[in-house]
Amino acid sequence: MASRSPETMLNIAVLVSGSGTNLQAIIDTVHTGDCPAEVSLVLSNKPAYGLTRAQDAGIATALLEAQSGESREAYDARLLKTLEAYKPDLIVLAGFMRILSADFVAHFDGRMLNIHPSLLPLYKGLNTHQRALDDAQSQHGATVHFVTAELDSGPALIQGIVEVEAQDDIDSLSARVHLVEHKIYPQAIDWIARRRAYCKDGIVHFDGKPLIAPKRLTLE
Ligand code: GRF
Repeated sequence: MASRSPETMLNIAVLVSGSGTNLQAIIDTVHTGDCPAEVSLVLSNKPAYGLTRAQDAGIATALLEAQSGESREAYDARLLKTLEAYKPDLIVLAGFMRILSADFVAHFDGRMLNIHPSLLPLYKGLNTHQRALDDAQSQHGATVHFVTAELDSGPALIQGIVEVEAQDDIDSLSARVHLVEHKIYPQAIDWIARRRAYCKDGIVHFDGKPLIAPKRLTLE
């Protein structure tokens, strides 16, 4: 960990529901590099390997399962309360498989990131790799974007590009998209931690100027 005072560290809470390979890439970057950020909490809505990864890294964890019959708003109120105890500067959604209520999203306006496995605005929602293959796309990838109330539609900061090969199937393509995700998510967080990137009034700014199109990184 970099020798910086806690006040200058970007305090991050990561929300997962599954294996947490993106979480691991983020932990590896912020705990071993010089990124001025710290993951203070990893929260999951179900038992998930992502929680084990966090525990192995000495990070606090929370398991917040929905109760039977609980409304989205009631769950999100509990989620907010749990998160606020850690005073996060940034919420990072890393495979968190719940739709968030408009109030929750508004609370973290400009302070919540998501990664989506497609080159948005293409293929919002599920089954993105299969849909890219069905459409015979020559390129596919992933997008890191700030979260707004409309699903997978917030302003994008960076996209990771993957060339689709003739022999690709869903497994090979999704594996390469994962590889590029593991580069662009830590990169996006590093830029935010260094205040090179931020989102204001729905517009991403980079190095002091509005970002006209998302940054791009091509998987070699
Ligand atoms: C990733 O493909 C990400 O794009 C999507 O959820 C998946 C999470 O994977 N939002 P992992 O748990 O980080 O491996």
